[in-house]
Amino acid sequence: MLEKPKISVIGVGYVGLCTAVGFASKGYTVISSDVDAEKVAKIKEGIPPFHEPSLPEMLKQTIENGNLKCLVNHTEKAVLETDITYIAVGTPSKPNGSIDLQFIETVSNDIGKALSQKRNYHVVVVKSTVVPGTVQNTVKPNLEKQSEKRCGEDFGLCVNPEFLRQGSAFYDTFNADRVVIGSFDQKSGDAIEALYKEFYYPKLPPIIRTSLATAELIKYANNAMLATKISFINTIANICEKIPGADVKTVAKAMGLDKRIGPLFLDAGLGYGGSCFPKDVKALIACSKAFGYASELLESVENLNHTQPLKAVEFCKQQLGNLSGKNIAILGLAFKPDTDDMREARVVPIINQLLLEGATIIAYDPVAMNMAKSIFQDKIQYASSAIRCIKNTDAAILVTEWEEFKKLAPEDFLKNMRQPILIDGRRIYDPEIYSKKLNFTAIGFGK
Ligand code: UGA
Repeated sequence: MLEKPKISVIGVGYVGLCTAVGFASKGYTVISSDVDAEKVAKIKEGIPPFHEPSLPEMLKQTIENGNLKCLVNHTEKAVLETDITYIAVGTPSKPNGSIDLQFIETVSNDIGKALSQKRNYHVVVVKSTVVPGTVQNTVKPNLEKQSEKRCGEDFGLCVNPEFLRQGSAFYDTFNADRVVIGSFDQKSGDAIEALYKEFYYPKLPPIIRTSLATAELIKYANNAMLATKISFINTIANICEKIPGADVKTVAKAMGLDKRIGPLFLDAGLGYGGSCFPKDVKALIACSKAFGYASELLESVENLNHTQPLKAVEFCKQQLGNLSGKNIAILGLAFKPDTDDMREARVVPIINQLLLEGATIIAYDPVAMNMAKSIFQDKIQYASSAIRCIKNTDAAILVTEWEEFKKLAPEDFLKNMRQPILIDGRRIYDPEIYSKKLNFTAIGFGK
């Protein structure tokens, strides 16, 4: 059997770390590098720097058995000692919505410098989400300039977007729906295809081979489609609320049974958050504008996502009138369950607006409390359990659909709240049951 290629991963956020641990767990030698020394120190101890189910056990194991190494800001060493380098650094948004390529620039220059010292063929794979044209126009020139070598001859270049979901990122690493490989040259595409054939064996997902730009666009199209599905069902939810007896949950269930639509990503709620959908939709809007096409559809998807969370505040005002001096409980802070991530979490505009209206906020989340404290500091109060959170409050808003909150019965709200006003922002409670016992409002439920 041929020797397994050695792999380096630059950037150990969600994507980089899951990729690195994924390969290391299957016996590959992996060297990762990140500029954040604190993050690296944690990884070296076998502790993931973020909450991700199933990752801690495998990280510990791969660090202990030596398959995975993690260096502080040492791209050059990582590249020199391996055959394939994954770029998995962040691509944040600039204020105008376009993507900020500063980390991609730095890393591709550093990799280029290392390539100048390499004798054997090396493949560079861009896993970071980058707008179409970035790899051809930024990564390739940087690699060629710094290495004084030619792409497609001395080294290869691919784009391999990831489709990992936070909260199930490690599971997704081993269970991909498909693998997309965009390549500059045939040889590097073949090398990455061979790598994945071995990695996924015997359960190989479909492999799509394509150009660099198409691979870059697939990632954006995928996320934009999912975001569109969410804003679409939220639009239907908003319509349902105006129609007595209409319920978006049942509409979505029936729609989802149509094979052409499918049941997933049709959960109406307070909008989408996280580090991906908001940023990627904005970046695709900005990128297509730069190419001369203004996408009205994507702009509407984004606009609706801005107004949707504020509906929770509207509902509160409908029930309580003036919010000044009212105690409001917030159940859930993370942008979705099973993560402590609060980037673009819909709870942030909700809390900010409630504070502006003079309300007092008490919040609880099973894992995102520290994250919330770093954002809101002492502007809000923090509870140590869901029951403590709702105690003596005038209204409760369910923002994140954690399993723990699904267990709360109407009696819990009745017994503990000053006024039993419950706003279900994620449709986890049965309106038939809850509206009989509480003053209950739910997204997409026409009373
Ligand atoms: C998303 C994609 O699902 C991944 O495939 C992709 O790899 C990732 O972005 C990325 O680009 O890195 P993620 O941000 O982890 O993954 O979260 P999702 O599970 O997709 O949820 C995003 C947001 O949509 C959450 O705020 C969630 O509450 C919301 N959502 C999701 C809804 O409001 N309704 C739904 O039906 C589904």
